[in-house]
Amino acid sequence: MPTTAETRTSRLRCVNCANVADSADQDFRCSTCGDLFEVFFPSWQTDDGLRAQGHTAPELKSLWLARRTRFEPENTSGVWRFREMLPALSAAYHPITLREGNTPLYELPGCAKSAAVDHLLAKHQGMNPTASFKDTGMTTASSFARQAGFRWVACASTGNTSASMAAYATRGGIRSLVLIPEGKISWGKLAQALDYGALTCQLRTDFDGCVQVLNELVRSMPVYMLNSVNPYRIEGQKTAAIELLEQLSWQPPDHIIVPGGNLGNSSALGKALLEMKDLGLIGRLPKLSVVQAEGANPFYRTFHELGGKQLIPMQAETLATAIRIGNPASWKKALRVIQSTGGTVEQVTEVEMALAKAEIGLDGVGCEPASAVTLAGLKKLVRKGFVKHTESVVLILTGHILKDPEFTLKFHRGELFAGTAHAAEASALKPLQRAPIVLDATLDAVKKTLEQSDQTEATPPI
Ligand code: F0G
Repeated sequence: MPTTAETRTSRLRCVNCANVADSADQDFRCSTCGDLFEVFFPSWQTDDGLRAQGHTAPELKSLWLARRTRFEPENTSGVWRFREMLPALSAAYHPITLREGNTPLYELPGCAKSAAVDHLLAKHQGMNPTASFKDTGMTTASSFARQAGFRWVACASTGNTSASMAAYATRGGIRSLVLIPEGKISWGKLAQALDYGALTCQLRTDFDGCVQVLNELVRSMPVYMLNSVNPYRIEGQKTAAIELLEQLSWQPPDHIIVPGGNLGNSSALGKALLEMKDLGLIGRLPKLSVVQAEGANPFYRTFHELGGKQLIPMQAETLATAIRIGNPASWKKALRVIQSTGGTVEQVTEVEMALAKAEIGLDGVGCEPASAVTLAGLKKLVRKGFVKHTESVVLILTGHILKDPEFTLKFHRGELFAGTAHAAEASALKPLQRAPIVLDATLDAVKKTLEQSDQTEATPPI
C-alpha cells in the first residue's frame, strides 16, 4: 500500500541514488537502491529564485510572526506555524496537534562558565507536550498516517519516540504499536506509552533488534512506520531550527550542538539550516555538530576513522538509554549536513555526561542524560579549539529531566558508577551530588543542616 498521496508542493528523493517518487513503500526505503528518502520542494523554484509557497524571506518572517497572535490549532502549533516549509496535507485533513514546538531558549550562565565560553544558550525540546523533541516530527508524520487511512502506526524506540507516537496516535484516533528493548528504557517513557493507550511490546533485544522486527512487520502488514526513516518526521523536526533562528532574530549562532543516536534529529536540524540559507532567511550557516556517548559511538568512529565513507555499526552500551543505538539509520543524512555546515562529531564518557547533566540542572533547566552529552561535548570542542571562547553556541536539549528520574537519583546517591569501571573517574562528581538527608522532625535538626550547608556550598551563578 502506498504510504502517502501528498504531491502538491513536495516530492520524495532518495538520498543515495536521487530516485524521485511521490509515494514510498511502507518501509520508506527507495525501491531502486534501498536507501532513505528525503522530502524536497520542486515548487520552491521560481523565476525570481527560491520562494517557499511563493513567499520571499521577509514575507515568510512576518507571516510566521503574525500567526503568533492567532489561536487556531495550526497557528498555535510551533510546527504548523511554519507550514510553508513543510509538506502540505490535503485540504480535507487537519493536523493532529498537541500544540508542540514553542519551546524556550534559555541562557545557561553556569554551564557557560564551566565550558569556558562567553555565551551559551539551550533550546529545550524537552518542553514539548510529551517532554521530548519527538513531538515536532510526530505531529507531521502521524497526520500523514491518518491522511493515508492507516488504522495502525508503529515504531521501534528507546522510549521517547514511543511516548510521542502513542500520544499523537490516540489524539488522531489511530491505534499504535510500540516495540521497545526489554529493560533498556526509562520507566517514565514506558509509563507514557501505556497511558496513551499503545500496544506495548518489550522485545528481548536492543533498539537495533527492535528496528529489524519493525521493518519485517511493515513489509508484511498494513502498519504505518513512524521511526525517523519516515521523511515526514524529519520535516516536522526541522521546525526546531526555524523557531530557534526566529528567537535569535534571524542572527545565526556560530555553533549548534545536538546529541546523536539514530541521527534523525541532526539530519532534520541540518536540513532546516540549509533550506533557510537557500531561501534567504539566514545569511550564513551555523556549524552543526553531533555528540555521542563513547559506548554508542558508531557515527563518531565512522566520521573520524573512515572519513564518513562507510558506517561502522556496533553493539551499543550507555546509561543514556535514549541514544543506546549501534546502527543509526540516518547516518548518511547527518553526515551530509555536518559536512555542509562545517561541523564535527565528538564523543564523551559516561562520567562526563553525568557531570554535564548535573551542571545543566544547577542552571535551573535540567534535561535527560542523552541531552547532556551536548554540554560535555562542547567542553571538549572548546579545549580542542574547534569552538572559540567568544563564539555563540546553542545546545539542543532533547528530553525533559523527569524522563529518567532513576538516573538522577542514582547520581545524587553516588550509586551511578559504584562498582563499575568508571568508579575512579566518578569521584569528580562528588561536589555536585546532593543526596536527600533523613532527619528527625525537629527545628534543631533542620537548622543545623541548613547552617552546615550554608557554610560549605556555593551560591549558584546568576
Ligand atoms: N535525545 C533523546 C532524548 C532521544 O530520545 C533521542 C532518540 C536522541 C537524543 C537522539 O536523536 O535518534 O534523532 O539522533 N531517541 C529515539 C527514540 C531513538 O526511540 O526515542 P536521534
